[in-house]
Amino acid sequence: MVEQSTTGTTGPVSAASGAVAAAPPSDTPLVIEDVTMAYGDFVVQEHLNFTVERGDIFIIMGGSGCGKSTVMRAMIGMQAPAKGRVLLDGQSLWEIDENARSLLLRRCGVVFQKGGLWSSMTLAENIELTLEQYTDLSRKEMREVSKLKLALVGLAGFEKFYPSEISGGMQRRAGVARALALEPELLFFDEPSAGLDPISSRLLDDLILELRDSLGATIVVVTHELASIFAIGSNSVVLDPVKKTQTATGDPRWLRDHSDNPDVREFLNRGEASGEQESAGNGGGGARGP
Ligand SMILES: Nc1ncnc2c1ncn2[C@@H]1O[C@H](COP(=O)(O)OP(=O)(O)OP(=O)(O)O)[C@@H](O)[C@H]1O
Ligand SMILES: [Mg+2]
Repeated sequence: MVEQSTTGTTGPVSAASGAVAAAPPSDTPLVIEDVTMAYGDFVVQEHLNFTVERGDIFIIMGGSGCGKSTVMRAMIGMQAPAKGRVLLDGQSLWEIDENARSLLLRRCGVVFQKGGLWSSMTLAENIELTLEQYTDLSRKEMREVSKLKLALVGLAGFEKFYPSEISGGMQRRAGVARALALEPELLFFDEPSAGLDPISSRLLDDLILELRDSLGATIVVVTHELASIFAIGSNSVVLDPVKKTQTATGDPRWLRDHSDNPDVREFLNRGEASGEQESAGNGGGGARGP
């Protein structure tokens, strides 16, 4: 999986390229079964059990350092769990051989923090690099695909720009365009809005919703940004840094108001208006609730 960690992108090779046979997508594209993540003897999270359904925007949340990114690494082929299984489209990701795993992971696109673009390449070249690695498309076809993907994220006309020539929000969206290059069924985001101003952050949330609705992608987002969680999340898991396991799963807004775990309610109400004020005023999602 060296290519993935450097390019930050995987995905299915299109039928046109003939390189990979597509299997039908599953209704439960991702299942986490009693997973433990650890670095040597240091257990980060254990006994994790949750399911991501097709069309979900699934949030992995929890305080800083609780292990959100580490758990995501198990899903994108970057770090094997110490225990348990990760089922991607019904196949146990860490129990199949490396070739099969690599094929399976081509159905996934990953957007890393800050977009993870190559600074010495234009936006179009960043996308074309992925196409070059995984498809047999001609140079002209690659140019067309990269143009299309950039347009999809609102960056039409920016093909020849270098990452340093555009804003942080635009860089993040260019990272999304690259992750979309191979038309993934599953898209993973690690802290997509970290370090962005509220408006860029909101635009990115809107883009994530649009990708789910227009492309039918299933999306997993690692974040602790409450505004984003309530704006886009349809399901979630809450990771606890002290108990080192999940303390809740479900619709984040429902958990905020009804979880029987006070720590979960507190986490999700942090900095938000009280329940009475919300129902009387801003629609229950904070300033940015849908
Ligand atoms: N490569 C590593 N080797 C050893 N320990 C690590 C490594 N990467 C992360 N950790 C530790 O694992 C724990 C979880 O880290 P992780 O980055 O997954 O948390 P996180 O919830 O994503 O944090 P943040 O909100 O800051 O992004 C932390 O205690 C961290 O110090
Ligand atoms: Mg992290």
